[in-house]
Amino acid sequence: MRGRRTRYKYMFMSNVAPAIGFDALLASLEAAGEVTRLRLLGLLCEADLTVSELVAILGQSQPRVSRHLKLLVEAGLAERQREGAWAFYRLADRGGALARALIARIDPADPTLAADRARLAMAREARRKQAAAYFADRAGDWDKIRALHAPEAKVEAAILELVGDKPLRGLLDLGTGTARMLELLAPLADRAVGVDQSAAMLAIARAHVDQSGLRNVQLRQGDIYAPPVERDAYDFVIIHQVLHFLDDPGRALAEAARALRPSGRLLVVDFAAHAEEYLREQYAHRRLGFADAEIAGFLAEAGLQELAAEHVAPGAGESGKLTVALWLARDRRIIADQLPKTAMEIA
Ligand SMILES: C[S@@+](CC[C@H](N)C(=O)[O-])C[C@H]1O[C@@H](n2cnc3c(N)ncnc32)[C@H](O)[C@@H]1O
Repeated sequence: MRGRRTRYKYMFMSNVAPAIGFDALLASLEAAGEVTRLRLLGLLCEADLTVSELVAILGQSQPRVSRHLKLLVEAGLAERQREGAWAFYRLADRGGALARALIARIDPADPTLAADRARLAMAREARRKQAAAYFADRAGDWDKIRALHAPEAKVEAAILELVGDKPLRGLLDLGTGTARMLELLAPLADRAVGVDQSAAMLAIARAHVDQSGLRNVQLRQGDIYAPPVERDAYDFVIIHQVLHFLDDPGRALAEAARALRPSGRLLVVDFAAHAEEYLREQYAHRRLGFADAEIAGFLAEAGLQELAAEHVAPGAGESGKLTVALWLARDRRIIADQLPKTAMEIA
């Protein structure tokens, strides 16, 4: 089973794109064979981006960038996902592999691509600072804010149900915030690690962990895209109400998958797709929740097997609150002590 995941990663790393027909390949190559479009593909290899972000990075007019994006979409290399007032562009599921393979052939030090990536990094850094400031401002009353838009008790009951009562050796909470998930789940684990980029959130998390008397918890400051944690080390990873703030949720899930030990499970909890645009303005949400199919795609890309998708709808009298979804997946590798016993061992 380990081979399956390794093979997938190998395919990705060696840039072997899945086979496509002659005409489709020709159309894709024609679409990619233009300077702005190749630059766009280079950027979409890094993150899902809106037109205005791409316009700012490329320094070209919006109609021009939109026209090139349309051609990439028509050629099956990119796809557009409309979500409320925003539209995100990303590499397409199938054609995206070809785009990645093409971009991987370019010298990473090439000045054009390097300059685009540097501008993207600057845009991301500005956004990261904005998000950190947002969380720093609200760290103190975060627990009140989270209760505003989620049926908390029902969600936590559903989380505990999915975790089960089997003891956990290693628990990892990515984007731990005020450490609510650690308070809920660390008592089930031998050791637990919480990671968050915001120092202000971590300060509150530390206070909560102390108050709860949890001695098995460690908190680390770090980015969900490069979490400062060991690989293959955790049997349960949770990402609770973080994904909708991120510009590349798929990458965050792929990183989380790397932290899983064989057969380890990843639980993603976030909003089901919704249309509450004000959350972008007032709460810095980037994504208006997620459809089951989109998360299923991210999990498959991360090489994980999806185990469950559950929705917790707001109850009567909770109008205005959003449906929360829980997506559970597992690492496909099997641990030795779960393998069926051989005939000799049984005898
Ligand atoms: C809505 S809070 C959720 C916190 C916690 N998981 C909970 O449910 O209470 C989102 C958290 O994600 C953190 N976060 C956002 N982007 C992050 C990133 N790129 N890396 C690490 N943490 C991030 C924020 O600092 C914030 O604490």
